[in-house]
Amino acid sequence: MIVDSNPAASTSPAIQTFNPKLCWYPVCFVEDLPKNRPYSFSLYDEPLVLFQDKEGNLICLTDRCPHRAAKLSDGQITDGKIECLYHGWQFGADGECLHIPQLEANAKIPTAACVK
Ligand code: FES
Repeated sequence: MIVDSNPAASTSPAIQTFNPKLCWYPVCFVEDLPKNRPYSFSLYDEPLVLFQDKEGNLICLTDRCPHRAAKLSDGQITDGKIECLYHGWQFGADGECLHIPQLEANAKIPTAACVK
């Protein structure tokens, strides 16, 4: 049993736990960020990729293709989307898969084919 030795603490706000994924981290200087290719880095052993979309917004995704786990940072930027080097799947700003070249034109892209 835990006894609160400070009765005033019971009226204080709830104790917050530290979540490292809810913090900002310096990754690189904007001037050093490549404009037309992905930038790979890792944070807490999680591989991440950074790239710019068509409007110049910085997009950060997990550096792992949902198809066969290839590094997205080995791919290229095509029309503001990151394109996997291996089979050409393309992903947008929210990690949604926007293009699978092997699918027929009117086929629906599976929702599981997205990047975190
Ligand atoms: S491994 Fe990325 S599209 Fe196949």
